[in-house]
Order: sequence, then C-alpha cells, then structure tokens
Amino acid sequence: AAAKGGYKHFMLKEIMEQPRVITDCLTGRVTEEPDGSLSVHLQELDGIPVPSRLHIVACGTSYNAGLWGQQLLENVGGIPTDLDIASEFRYRDPIILPGEAVMVISQSGETADTLAALRLAKEKGAKVIGLCNVVGSSIAREADVVLYTQAGPEISVASTKAMCSQMVLIALMALYYGQRRSPAVFDRNLLVALRELPEKLAAALPAMQKRAEQLALRFASSRSFFYLGRGQYNALALEGALKLKELSYIHAEGYAAGEMKHGPIALIDPQFPTFALAMDDDVFFPKVKSNIQEVLARQGRVIALVQEKGRSLSSLGVEDIWRLPDSYPVISCFFALSALQLFSYCMADVLGKDVDQPRNLAKSVTVE
Ligand code: M6R
Repeated sequence: AAAKGGYKHFMLKEIMEQPRVITDCLTGRVTEEPDGSLSVHLQELDGIPVPSRLHIVACGTSYNAGLWGQQLLENVGGIPTDLDIASEFRYRDPIILPGEAVMVISQSGETADTLAALRLAKEKGAKVIGLCNVVGSSIAREADVVLYTQAGPEISVASTKAMCSQMVLIALMALYYGQRRSPAVFDRNLLVALRELPEKLAAALPAMQKRAEQLALRFASSRSFFYLGRGQYNALALEGALKLKELSYIHAEGYAAGEMKHGPIALIDPQFPTFALAMDDDVFFPKVKSNIQEVLARQGRVIALVQEKGRSLSSLGVEDIWRLPDSYPVISCFFALSALQLFSYCMADVLGKDVDQPRNLAKSVTVE
C-alpha cells in the first residue's frame, strides 16, 4: 500500500506520475543559454552519423509510441522514418541500406520479438539505437547506443508512464536531429511547450480523473468501443483501444478516422460507442467532425475529446464532450494520452477488474 503512494492502484499512481516523468526525461537534455536560446543534448547520439533513414521497431504500447513519433521525426527531425511491429520485422527479411539505422523501443528491454529484431538489424550491419526504460536490460546491453527514458519502475502491467516518456524522448530526438541538420529550422516553440508541460499536466490531471470517472459510469455497460483519430491522434486512438481491451476486456477497435468508411462504419449502432479524438489544433479537425456526424447519423453514441477553446461540436448534438486544456500542437497529445489512460483505468475499476494485473498478460513478454 505504501508503494502505491495512497493511490488505489499502481496504474493510477503511474498515470498521475506523468508530469514528473516528463521532467525527469527532460533533465540534463535541454540547455538554456543566458540569452534564452535553447538546445537539445543527446550525447548518446553524437557519436553516430545522422541516419539517412530510421526504422522503428517495437511491440504493443511501445509500437504506438513509435507510430506517434514517426511524423515528428520526419517533420521536425527531417529523418525519413519507417515503422514495424517487431514480430513482423524479424521474419520479413527487411532491407536496411548503409547509412540507415534501426531504433528499437521497449519499456522492459526484454521483449523477445524486439530483442530478435535488434539482433537481426545488427546482423545486417545497421547501427541500433535502443530506447529503453530498464537500465541494464538485454536491449540496453545489446544496442549500439541506449537512450534511457528515465520513467522509473513501471509496476502495473498496462504501460502508461513509459509511453509518455517514450513520446518525450522521441520528441527530443526529432528536435535534436532537426538542430543537428540545420540549427535554422530548430522548433524552439515545441521545446518551450514541452518544458511547460509538466506543470500544466499536473494541474489538469485531478479534473481529468473526475471526468473519466463520470464517463466510465455512463458507458460501463458498453461491450464494444470504437476509437478514431487522425495524424498523431491515430496512434493515440490505437493506444486508447489497446488500453481499454487489456484492462476491462471490452472489445475496442482503434482506427485511423479516414478508414472508417472503408468497413468499420458497418459496426456503428446505439450499442457501439465511439471515442473521437477531435482536438482542435489538429489540421484534421473538420474531417474528424464529419466522422462524428456519420456516427451520430447511425444513432451511435460519441465521447469527443476536444480542447477548451476548440471549435464547437455542440451543434452536432454530441452529448459527451470532454474538454482538455488548450496547448501547443503536439503537446496536446500528452493531455489526450492521459485522458485515454484514465478512461480505461476507470472503466476497469468500475467493472471490478484486476487493474494492475489483467488476465492473460505479463509485464514483460520474454517468449515469442
Ligand atoms: O516492454 P515493452 O515496451 O517492449 O513491451 C511491449 C508490450 O508488450 C507492451 O507495451 C504491452 O503492449 C503492454 N501491456 C501495453 O500496456
């Protein structure tokens, strides 16, 4: 009980720790000069050339973090970036050209498929960057370069703060590569917003927990859920669905919103609610709004995640709108991630599930 720090479950404690985790992940990696200029330091990467292409390989939530980061690494870092599920990568004889690098992401550093992918990448002559939480783990030992996420021990089987730290570190990598390639294109505003995030997230989390509890009570009898998002929110939609199914055993589909009309729309009915990530800083807002209209037209219930001053969805008749603090684009994803985690946590708790140790799951998947 003491280790839970007064929280009912480790998962809730770990969600609430995220502001500190972000601070710890930034510690020692950002410098501010007396003139106010900022720079990112990832000394671990200084010794290897900027990759001509980065192949990200991971499983589960770590894969979702990689998917979230892909666009940032390309747009902010200027690095062409591919993504693979480790269990697929290891058997598909991937082409890795000279100058390209592989980045494996793993909280535990012991995931069998991710470790096999790392070994394959090394056999193929690639430099391997390991993004790990557990110091001295197999992946940390075997990678050419390790970046530690510094999230602290994650006890709950469901990964929460580890994903948050992976996202922070990938954002720093994108900034680092952008800065290394051309200081002129360095996205200072993103770094400023990242540094301000811990305080803002800490202030927002208690109200977010209350809202998650209300919504969990309203939707506790649902047996299926649909999660929709676009761009970086697509990765979060996948993560939201993964968290809901692993914790509360409710069937959940995470989809890129644009794919809805290509099949899953057939599922929509009054018993199949949709969790729509309709954050307003998203260039895709009008498109997600039209997805919401499609759901409502089929009598589907909608929970819409929006920002405080975001464009309104009320004219559509969405009953359950969840407002999150306004923030800089990209940074709003961290609020959305916490909201999705809290909703899954509350659903599992309301349903009386074993939150910290869901059935059939292990914290570290060391077998294939
Ligand atoms: O330790 P890893 O990050 O390599 O683990 C990968 C997955 O097994 C892990 O993220 C899993 O999906 C979690 N149960 C998600 O909450």
